[in-house]
Amino acid sequence: MSQVELDARIHQVLCEFQLVGPFSAGYPVNQNFDYSELQPLLAFAANNVGDPFGYSRYQANTHETEREVVHTVAELLRLPTDQAWGYVTSGGTEGNMYGIYVGREMLHEPIAYFSQDTHYSVLKILHILKIRNIMIRSQENGEIDYDDLRESIRINRDVPALIIANIGTTMKGAIDDLDRIRGIIEDLALTQYYIHADEALSGMILPFVDDPQPFGFDHGIDSAAVSGHKMFGSPLPCGVVVTKREHTAQIGRAIEYVGALDTTLLGSRSAIAPVILWYSLTKHGHDGFREMVARMLDMAEYAVQQFNANGIPAWRNKNSPTVVFPRPSPYVLFQWQLAPLDDFAHLITMPQITHEMIDAIIADYIERPPTDQ
Ligand SMILES: Cc1ncc(COP(=O)(O)O)c(C=O)c1O
Repeated sequence: MSQVELDARIHQVLCEFQLVGPFSAGYPVNQNFDYSELQPLLAFAANNVGDPFGYSRYQANTHETEREVVHTVAELLRLPTDQAWGYVTSGGTEGNMYGIYVGREMLHEPIAYFSQDTHYSVLKILHILKIRNIMIRSQENGEIDYDDLRESIRINRDVPALIIANIGTTMKGAIDDLDRIRGIIEDLALTQYYIHADEALSGMILPFVDDPQPFGFDHGIDSAAVSGHKMFGSPLPCGVVVTKREHTAQIGRAIEYVGALDTTLLGSRSAIAPVILWYSLTKHGHDGFREMVARMLDMAEYAVQQFNANGIPAWRNKNSPTVVFPRPSPYVLFQWQLAPLDDFAHLITMPQITHEMIDAIIADYIERPPTDQ
C-alpha cells in the first residue's frame, strides 16, 4: 500500500469520526478530552503484564501509574488504600468478570442474584464462570425489586449469595440500594455472601454529588468495576476494578515466564490506559470532576423539563444523567444514535452534550413522531 493510500484510509476514518461526533447522544462516553501530550508514549511496546502491585520482568510498564489510579478510585469508592487491590482493565465487562470471579472463589458454589436491568455482560460472565444464578425482577425505574430478591434468597438460604448490584443501570441509570440489600442479608442471617457492584458510569458520578445514594465499600460492597471510557474519557476502552486486598491475596499465583504474579484476568494489558486515566484524574482533579458532574446533571434536568414541556413524558433517576423517554421514530434513533430498548429509549448528558443538541433532538422528535417510519 502506498503512503497516499495509507493517508487516505486514516483521513477517511477521521472524517467518519468527525461526522458522527456531534450527533451522538445515546452512549455514556465523555468525548471532551485531549491526550495529545501522551502521543510520544505510543512509540514503545509498553505492556502492563502481571500484577501492578507486584514485580514484573517486563520493564516498559506503567505499574506505578496504574497503582496510583487504583488507589485514587479506591478512595473515591470509600476503600482505604491500604485495604485496596485492583488493576486497570480493558473495560466494564472485564471488571465485572474479575469481581464476580473473586466472589465465586470466596464462596462455596454460590448462587448469583442480579436484576433484569443488569448489563448483558453479567449473564454472559455467569455462564462462562458456570455460576448458578437467579434473575430478579426489576422495578419500573430499573432498580432491583427488593421483595423478589428477599424471597429468592430466602428459599435458598443454605446457599452462599453472590449479589451483583447495579450502581447505575445501562438503560435507566438506576441505583440498587446497597443498604436495603444488606438489610435483607442481615434479616435472613446469611453468613456467606459477597456483593459486587457494577459501577460502570455512576462510580465516577456519585463521589462528586452532594447527596449520593450509597455506592461504596463503606456500604458493604466487596468489589467494584468502573469504566474508563465513560466518565474519565478515553480514546481506548478501559476500566478499573477495585477489590479488597484480603480477597485477592488468595487468588494469585506466580508465573515464571514474565516473573509476575498472575492476579489479573488478562496477560498482556495496556500500559497506555493507566496513563490516560491518571491524566484525566490529575488534569480535572476532584473539583473538575465535581463541576463536570454538576453540569451533566443540570443538563439532564434541562432535557427532562424540555421534553415534558413539549408533552413527552421523559424522566430520570436521582443523580443520573440518563434521560428516559418513549421510543422515538427510527429516524430520530439513527440521527442521534440513541439507545432503544422495547418501548423506550434514552439519551445521556455526557459533558459534550449541549443545550442546542437537546433542543434539536426534541425538535426532531416532534417533527418525526414515534409513529413515523
Ligand atoms: C452498567 C454497565 N455495566 C457494564 C458495562 C460494560 O462495559 P464495557 O462495554 O466497558 O465492557 C456497561 C456498558 O455500557 C454498562 O452500562
